[in-house]
Amino acid sequence: MFRILVTDKLDAEGVEILKRYKEFDVVEKETLKGDALIQELRGYDAIIVRSETKLTKEVLEASEGLKIIARAGVGVDNIDVPTATKKGIVVVNAPSGNTISTAEYTFAMMIALARKIPFAHASMQQKVWDRKSFKGVELLNKTLGVIGLGRIGTEVAKRAQAFGMKILGYDPYLSEEMATKLGIELASLERIYKESDFITVHTPLTDATRGLIGKKEIEMMKKSVRIINCARGGIIDEAALAEALKSGRIAGAAVDVYSKEPPFDSANPLLDAPNCILAPHLGASTAEAQYNVAIESAEAVANFLLHGMIVNS
Ligand code: NAD
Ligand code: MLT
Repeated sequence: MFRILVTDKLDAEGVEILKRYKEFDVVEKETLKGDALIQELRGYDAIIVRSETKLTKEVLEASEGLKIIARAGVGVDNIDVPTATKKGIVVVNAPSGNTISTAEYTFAMMIALARKIPFAHASMQQKVWDRKSFKGVELLNKTLGVIGLGRIGTEVAKRAQAFGMKILGYDPYLSEEMATKLGIELASLERIYKESDFITVHTPLTDATRGLIGKKEIEMMKKSVRIINCARGGIIDEAALAEALKSGRIAGAAVDVYSKEPPFDSANPLLDAPNCILAPHLGASTAEAQYNVAIESAEAVANFLLHGMIVNS
């Protein structure tokens, strides 16, 4: 019998898949933290988490018998992978289940920014009929800079083409040939910063991408640029972005992810920045994406525990 701990309110279908196996004892728990997580985790063979459960060095070092961690989502930054590896614990993610939801969310952010929809909504809620303050811009013929052309970045680019945008892209791992096939013109970061009307980031958060866009990069941009981060907090320097919004150096920003989540106890400067749309990490929050990633992770755990197979789509 294998014991599997499921946390962070994984979609019910993923839990159902696991419960069909007589070999699995599946336990569902609310998100656990610190000591409570350390105590609970002892004796489990597998754990499935979304992003709220933090499998830190301390938690993993204290674990006994854990064989596999499945992350129902893309980013594994809530898991200390080096410690897991050291302890021989396999880490898998669900890389493709939330791609479309996050690409659509990014696009929703871009249109909301271009047309100032949340700001008009807020004004209506104050019973102010203001038809002057919310004049926006069209997407047609605008240049979109996409940094990171993996699953989500390329889906965003496809949607932007349908809107008649020109796409400049940067990804050190994408070939010229593939970019051309996708209708994306590869460009240096500097060119993207200088020429784009909208810039969206879709890279993982790594040492190379932390603070990728800061004060110096923003200085190169058009004053009319609008910046979107639906990837990971910290890729864009939050203080520099907030300062650029407050001083009117850029036209707007839309942010779904933060260097610390929730961002409220760290006095995040974006919280009171003007022309900024904020969301609480909702890119993958659709029925479809949560269903997909739950199934992907449940199947990954089952395959590994029963057959020793590691399958990442
Ligand atoms: P992916 O792995 O398919 O694509 C990432 C791309 O970034 C790759 O093509 C890679 O070559 C590129 N890259 C890596 N380092 C780079 C660098 N230094 N400069 C430019 N490009 C670089 O991942 P994905 O599924 O497209 O996800 C992208 C990001 O979105 C991840 O950070 C992921 O965690 C995040 N995400 C957020 C949400 C959300 O809810 N907001 C949902 C899903 C994914
Ligand atoms: C991911 O990395 O998959 C996203 O941030 C979405 C999530 O954490 O649910």
